[in-house]
Amino acid sequence: MNPTASVNDRIQLIVNGATAEAGVAACSPDLAKGPWEFDAQPPGYGPGSSMGDVIPTGSPVQGGLPTEYKTATNDELHERIRVAKETLGERVVILGHFYQREEVVRHADYLGDSYQLAVQAKNRPEAEAIIFCGVHFMAETADILSSANQAVILPNLAAGCSMADMADIDSVTQCWEELTALYGTEPDADGRVPIIPVTYMNSSAALKGFCGENGGIVCTSSNAETVLKWAFERGQRVLFFPDQHLGRNTAKAMGVPLEAMPLWHGRKPLGGNTAVELAEARVILWNGFCSVHKRFNVGQIEQARRDHPGVRVIVHPECPMPVVDAADEYGSTEYIRKAVAEATEPTTFAIGTEINMVQRLAAQYPQHTIFCLDPVVCPCSTMYRIHPGYLAWVLERLVAGEVVNQIVVPEDVALPARVALERMLAAKPV
Ligand code: 13P
Ligand code: SF4
Repeated sequence: MNPTASVNDRIQLIVNGATAEAGVAACSPDLAKGPWEFDAQPPGYGPGSSMGDVIPTGSPVQGGLPTEYKTATNDELHERIRVAKETLGERVVILGHFYQREEVVRHADYLGDSYQLAVQAKNRPEAEAIIFCGVHFMAETADILSSANQAVILPNLAAGCSMADMADIDSVTQCWEELTALYGTEPDADGRVPIIPVTYMNSSAALKGFCGENGGIVCTSSNAETVLKWAFERGQRVLFFPDQHLGRNTAKAMGVPLEAMPLWHGRKPLGGNTAVELAEARVILWNGFCSVHKRFNVGQIEQARRDHPGVRVIVHPECPMPVVDAADEYGSTEYIRKAVAEATEPTTFAIGTEINMVQRLAAQYPQHTIFCLDPVVCPCSTMYRIHPGYLAWVLERLVAGEVVNQIVVPEDVALPARVALERMLAAKPV
């Protein structure tokens, strides 16, 4: 393991109060504790960027982890994971998202963004089990796209996503009923229906199923523009959920004026908009956001430009619009990885995305200067729930012939969700 790639050293600064002394709002020192300290105490996302967000009732909770996995050192866990994986061989594949901690990433067979991981889940039919080191909506997607005889395992069931939790099937259905009552269902002269639902990958399987049933589609941050083009060919307007920022940033880049992108506030009649505003809308944005990317601001970019003349600023499209506008470039996690990997000259990069990924890039590409725009480490709380202790546990249970923490999407939900996902996969180029 490359120790500089782990965020643990920076978390120690928080524990020791160094970041508080620097006068910056830091995350909780509880970050240094094991996730099992929090898994047994719902509700809450645990320490990290989304710790202030409200977790919906009924969110999955992780049961107890045997003590041996909580007390083992990182080196012991590493060895146990390695041995279990070797024993299982081709029977298991480990997929890891770029935001996973380094201690987990080092065991992944494939590391990628959410689009790439969905494709990998579909293309690994030889594995009996897919261990998904990421968050719940990604594991659900893997279950929908993989073969029926494969088990998808999420090492910690409490690894959700606070943004995905901001849109639930009941609220979206209510919104859809109001909008269809307003717009009707008749296509225009070009055959385009009044409205198409588009869900970001970061959403429950139920919402993907809703899109499949209502002529809609899924997008990720790497193909949002392609998907919106697909939707505008078939519809006069789009209902985009749950991430308002990805929706706004993408539609704005495609030339949709901001006045034509009203925000839908659940629980208010017509989402807090007038019928005229909605009649003129091209993209209706759900009021969701990512608490990790909300931490980035224009002041940080200005500071980076002052401190590092010539700096290349790249941010994720989940960042608020002013941040994306002030950056030099924006794109998915894979876009960011590729931009760094392909830079031929030593470059200074200021990056607006999750800290585990930024630290890894900095360690992998020492010829560049790479830092996170947010000076205070604050990982995605839920990605961070996948601790190597949980990975060792699910693998060793598999060796013993037991599947634990399986994610199963019921077939009545999976069927329409697969339709929306397959539409996305077919809507190339990415
Ligand atoms: P990517 O699709 O870019 O990997 O993003 C997933 C995510 O959750 C970002 O917060
Ligand atoms: Fe969800 Fe944000 Fe974490 Fe991505 S970074 S999984 S959007 S909370």
